Amino acid sequence: MTRRGSWRIGTRLFVAQVIVLLAISISAGLVASAIGPRLFHEHLIEAGEKETSPQFSHIEAAFESANIISLSIGLVIALAAALMITWYLARRFSTPLTDLTDTATRLSSGDLSARATAAGGVPEFALLATSLNDMAERLENTEATRRRLLSNLAHEMRTPVATLNAYLEGVSDGVLTWDDDTRHVLERQAERLTRLARDLDDVSRAEEGRVSLDLSVHSLQTLIESSVSQFGPQFESKSVQLSVQVSAGLVRVDPQRFAQILANLLNNALRHTPRGGIVSITADRSADDISVAVSDNGEGMTSEELGQAFERFYRGSTARAEDKNGSGIGLTISRALAEAHGGTLTATSGGRGCGATFTLSLPSPHTTSSLRGSESLGTRHPHRTHGSTR
Ligand SMILES: Nc1ncnc2c1ncn2[C@@H]1O[C@H](COP(=O)(O)OP(=O)(O)OP(=O)(O)O)[C@@H](O)[C@H]1O
Ligand SMILES: [Mg+2]
Repeated sequence: MTRRGSWRIGTRLFVAQVIVLLAISISAGLVASAIGPRLFHEHLIEAGEKETSPQFSHIEAAFESANIISLSIGLVIALAAALMITWYLARRFSTPLTDLTDTATRLSSGDLSARATAAGGVPEFALLATSLNDMAERLENTEATRRRLLSNLAHEMRTPVATLNAYLEGVSDGVLTWDDDTRHVLERQAERLTRLARDLDDVSRAEEGRVSLDLSVHSLQTLIESSVSQFGPQFESKSVQLSVQVSAGLVRVDPQRFAQILANLLNNALRHTPRGGIVSITADRSADDISVAVSDNGEGMTSEELGQAFERFYRGSTARAEDKNGSGIGLTISRALAEAHGGTLTATSGGRGCGATFTLSLPSPHTTSSLRGSESLGTRHPHRTHGSTR
């Protein structure tokens, strides 16, 4: 047997119950043998039996043996029944508890795939197992996101750092000459690293709710047209048509942040739409919100890509292959900015080759009183955003 301190709960319950039953049996035996015969003796005398008569001692002996036999049989039956019930209860508690303990131990030692089976049929244990499994699931997802984030970050840094190193070595070894081309390459890689650092700062600010919004009411049409006019030449040079249909009126936003969201959506659409394709911006309003949708008929996204597109540093395989400048956090920042405005940013796609639609929904100016901290127009407010594991 294991040391007493390491006995399992089932064994402890069982042993404790055995001790209680033995104590009950012993005290019942002692009480019965100390009080019963004396009372019987007095009753016999009161009934007129002579203490000296041979029947007297015979009757007393018969009473004692009947007493012992009936008490023993009763105690043995009670003991057996109690032990069986204790054994059953101990097993019923011990199996799920052991399973829960094992699962918690595996989780705490880093095995995040451990799950409790919630067997045993005790509702409280089943609830505990479900909560433990939910927590394990969340931990596993967070760990997977953290790993992916670190590996993506390493991937994003590797190329510019390797290029910088190669060029600097080439120049110092005399293999490369220090001319405008070399300087241009080095500047581009340094810019890329600077942009990565700025994006990282932006994304952590957005996710920690440290975004400053300079809110004011604007015409949605003017905001969209000013973004569109900046993108016109890029769309023209790639021969992608850009159509705009705006029917909504006013919107209360930080114009720079709004332009940042739209610029990322237009950039993405242009990047993922082949020559001859169409990108359209449509804006509509309902009673409570204003929605701006940027749709393209380009590459589209699989459901797996849709699920990950808003995660930090996520870039689809085609994005990695085609464009070396993106960091994969444009959508993360855009969604955080949309949420800071009290709105949402969502994506849909019919699948690979079927185009994609990104929809920015913002509360109407008359409902933006629900927007956290926006008491007046044109003032700067820090806003918290929801969640951090997108
Ligand atoms: N319109 C689109 N069509 C198809 N895929 C898209 C589209 N928009 C985004 N994606 C996918 O979502 C990924 C994430 O987009 P996101 O804007 O966050 O990063 P990025 O554009 O790659 O880089 P960054 O915006 O930081 O320059 C893209 O790499 C691409 O795979
Ligand atoms: Mg982008």
